Amino acid sequence: MAQRALPKMLFDYVEGGAEDERGIRCNREAFDRWALVPRYLRDVTERSIVTSLLGTEYAAPFGISPTGFAGLLRPGADKMLARAASLAKLPFILSGVSNSTLEEIGELVGATFWYQLYPSRDRSISDDIVQRAAAAGIEHLVVTIDLPVTSNRERDIRNGLNFPPKIKASAYLETLRHPAWCLRYIASGQYPVFADWAKYAGESPAPAKVAQLVKDNSPAAMTWGHVQRLRDTWTGKLILKGILHAEDAVLARQYGVDGLIVSNHGGRQLDRTIASIDALPNMRHAVGPDYPLMVDSGVRRGSDIAIALCLGADFVFIGRATLFGVAAAGQPGAAQAISILRSEFDRVLGQLGASKVSMLDPTFLSAMPQTLQIQP
Ligand SMILES: Cc1cc2nc3c(=O)[nH]c(=O)nc-3n(C[C@H](O)[C@H](O)[C@H](O)COP(=O)(O)O)c2cc1C
Repeated sequence: MAQRALPKMLFDYVEGGAEDERGIRCNREAFDRWALVPRYLRDVTERSIVTSLLGTEYAAPFGISPTGFAGLLRPGADKMLARAASLAKLPFILSGVSNSTLEEIGELVGATFWYQLYPSRDRSISDDIVQRAAAAGIEHLVVTIDLPVTSNRERDIRNGLNFPPKIKASAYLETLRHPAWCLRYIASGQYPVFADWAKYAGESPAPAKVAQLVKDNSPAAMTWGHVQRLRDTWTGKLILKGILHAEDAVLARQYGVDGLIVSNHGGRQLDRTIASIDALPNMRHAVGPDYPLMVDSGVRRGSDIAIALCLGADFVFIGRATLFGVAAAGQPGAAQAISILRSEFDRVLGQLGASKVSMLDPTFLSAMPQTLQIQP
């Protein structure tokens, strides 16, 4: 449905990844290598998929990953995702390059949403954004660290979806094949803007001026020194997104980071990375059983969520699935994507013979990497 609803260049923006898109395929193949081994003759009539993460209870063990510039897919998409997640009692991470400000989302759903930061080269900008997040009552700050340099997304380059945009006449013509998208876009009366950055680009800046500011400030160099600085100033939960190496996971723990999202950015940054789900067992082994590890990249089914939890994740995040939902049908579309994943996961849990999320462990999997420690 999202493919039908969106101009091709925008569907490509969501579906695509870096270079040969091998990372996207690897993410799926990594899940597909696992088979589940159910335990029967157990009473699973009463089941609960409620999950605690970093001291908060959520209705299910998954939430929504940050996805930038979603307002281009549908005006107000960030708000729609935030609201759908909040109604489902799940975490939503607002992207640092979203089209709604963190204050607007705060007004809509309270401070229950998480905020993702892309640090800026001019540190005074990201320092101010962090202060705004604290002032808005946000408790979870997610810092995405897998952008030391800009990635090479060839679909976007071919489509001219860059800054400044170089969109071909044929691509403009193709958008006319999606009249509902065109009408919504015209009715919104504005080009989506990098909302949280606008106040640093002068008085009522044009969207292009804000985009130029973001471009001039990204990607910003990030080192463990910067993590230390954030840890010293941010009193809420600090989470790093994009860690894939077990030694980095250990370092993060030493620097006082509260948890990690094991992620290869859905195959959008470094094409030849390890799949997140393949990185997970080593990381769990390295940081021990109690350190909060979340994972995203490639999750499309409730059974994928179950596999991730069996492999040692405490929680799972979803990028494209809910984004396709919102692109196809707005907030009800996002809610539908959540509802599908939720009921699939609940069914898989029952079929495995588990009545609660904490029962999932590697014994439900058909093959076990040596690094997994299984109690007899
Ligand atoms: C269109 C799009 C935009 C994204 N923008 C961001 C972003 O602004 N910040 C970020 O940390 N990750 C971003 N991501 C990555 C997601 O947060 C997440 O890691 C990824 O989508 C997970 O893989 P999945 O789409 O296979 O579920 C984006 C992903 C997509 C598809």
